[in-house]
Amino acid sequence: MCGIVGYTGPRRAVPILLGGLAKLEYRGYDSAGIAVLEDGVIKVHKQAGKLAGLAERLQGYNGQARTGIGHTRWATHGRPSDTNAHPHSDCSGRFAVVHNGIIENYLELREWLGSQGHQFTSETDTEVLPHLVEHFYQGDLVEAVRRVVERIRGSYAMVVLSADKPDKLVAVRQDSPLVVGLGQGENFLASDIPALLAHTRRTYILDDGEMAVLTPEEVKIFNRCGEPVEKRVFEVKWEAAQAEKNGFAHFMLKEIHEQPRALRDTLKGRLAGDDSAVVLKELEIDDGKLRSLRKIFITACGTAYHAGLVGKYVIEQLARVPVEVDIASEFRYRQPLIDEGTLVIVISQSGETADTLAALREARRLGAPVLAVTNVVDSSIAREADHVLYTWAGPEIAVASTKAYTTQLVAMYLIALHLATVRGTITLEERRTIIKELKQLDSRAELILSNGHLIRDLARMYGGAEDVFFIGRGLDHAVALEGSLKLKEISYIHAEAYAAGELKHGTLALIEKGVPVVALATQKNLFEKTLSNIKEVKARDATVIALAMEGQKELEKVADHVLYIPPTNPVLAPVLAVIPLQLLAYQMAVVRGCDVDQPRNLAKSVTVE
Ligand code: F6R
Repeated sequence: MCGIVGYTGPRRAVPILLGGLAKLEYRGYDSAGIAVLEDGVIKVHKQAGKLAGLAERLQGYNGQARTGIGHTRWATHGRPSDTNAHPHSDCSGRFAVVHNGIIENYLELREWLGSQGHQFTSETDTEVLPHLVEHFYQGDLVEAVRRVVERIRGSYAMVVLSADKPDKLVAVRQDSPLVVGLGQGENFLASDIPALLAHTRRTYILDDGEMAVLTPEEVKIFNRCGEPVEKRVFEVKWEAAQAEKNGFAHFMLKEIHEQPRALRDTLKGRLAGDDSAVVLKELEIDDGKLRSLRKIFITACGTAYHAGLVGKYVIEQLARVPVEVDIASEFRYRQPLIDEGTLVIVISQSGETADTLAALREARRLGAPVLAVTNVVDSSIAREADHVLYTWAGPEIAVASTKAYTTQLVAMYLIALHLATVRGTITLEERRTIIKELKQLDSRAELILSNGHLIRDLARMYGGAEDVFFIGRGLDHAVALEGSLKLKEISYIHAEAYAAGELKHGTLALIEKGVPVVALATQKNLFEKTLSNIKEVKARDATVIALAMEGQKELEKVADHVLYIPPTNPVLAPVLAVIPLQLLAYQMAVVRGCDVDQPRNLAKSVTVE
């Protein structure tokens, strides 16, 4: 989704702003722009398309501006175009604003500003902001921005640059992330940490309703009432290199290959030395409460929702408590039946997804304790949940989620095992067996990755497909959904996933000669059933790529191709089964020449509804 950067200090602002925006490209965008202050005049450079186009236009630009703001826009209100790109300015050109989020009452504000003589040049909701600043400005920029905030409704992270205040930036946040980077004699702003790492690791993470006023020498933070706030400095621990490609052609490929490490890190410190139990210090819910839980709700979006589907199977199977899984954008509006006897688990890689955050708030409002599973320390979701279980996948840059998903699965196993232990639904021996297998997932994932060339060959054969179907039963169905999402989002091939037994209730009509069907058959107890579904599609001349655990030789007689994963406990199979599907999606997208890391129309972190 949109990205924001800001700089004030002694260095030339343009390269710093462009460098920062480049680090935010992964969030997804369709236009880019910067505004800098030069000799008391604000100069705006912006255009539709990739950042490289803007950078090319600014090549040889020798301006000496020391303060500026920048933005990558992902269109919501108004199509992608030069005029709709940010920054936006007021009538006088004395103010420039970048904004992430949505100003919900912009139409009424636009009408009112129009009646006051303001002229608009774009179709965006954002453009009301600089005009409002202009309207309220009487020499005090902070006060003007405060008055703007009183008039707007919606979600926003915005930064204001003023021609009258040469080294000052004023920023506010409500429901959209914004981080201050603390330098020496210079300060920075960004919507996301990777944009700051080339300059500093010391940050302030703004809370909702907070305002930051930056000059090169200092950063002041105020709350909603205008009172000064003492912020805790948040030190970013991960390395800048973790947000680089490290020799891989794409971030997605790098992140797929990081999974063995990410799985290890997510398990680290959470297993008892003798493999007898999981140790979840983060889950400070007392055992009595866990024993008396009547229901668990899992809510999330996209890939994280798919991790929730695996969570349902595993928690119900091991801990024998009913689990309902819901898409966050549905959950938040459907008056879910939850109370204090319900545990709500929200899953979010970014910790900033607007719908998931709203679902969390709704659950808390209804009195349920909320456990967040997230990858981003101090994200909004982490801060608002009652309990947090971090996945330690490290920064995920590619839009298509890979290592976040497999670490979310590990979090589901840890929660399920903990609940099962407390509720007495698992024996010590069963626990030990699963925990031992959990610890071997990393080496087994490595094995799958070392055979990646087989999948490249398949992608060459089927990269031209128009439709691909994914089928599976039980946990395999949950993984099939994720495999199909990966394929469609980055290769733009139409892909659908079905519970294998459901095919004959309609979808089988779409199966014809040569249509690729990816059939997952990793679940031993369902193997025979899935095998007959494979035979059903083969009888309609589909081309079957089967995925099973080693040893299922029978498949070779039926399927056109068989991919194997190393044997593991069936409940853990999703972690391994998804890896060939991630690689297949990746290789198909490469064969088709798609923009793997930044697929069209998609954003990494969906911070608007
Ligand atoms: C797909 C993908 C998305 C995200 C979804 C939720 O590859 O990445 O479907 O899973 O937007 O994002 P988070 O997990 O950040 O809440």
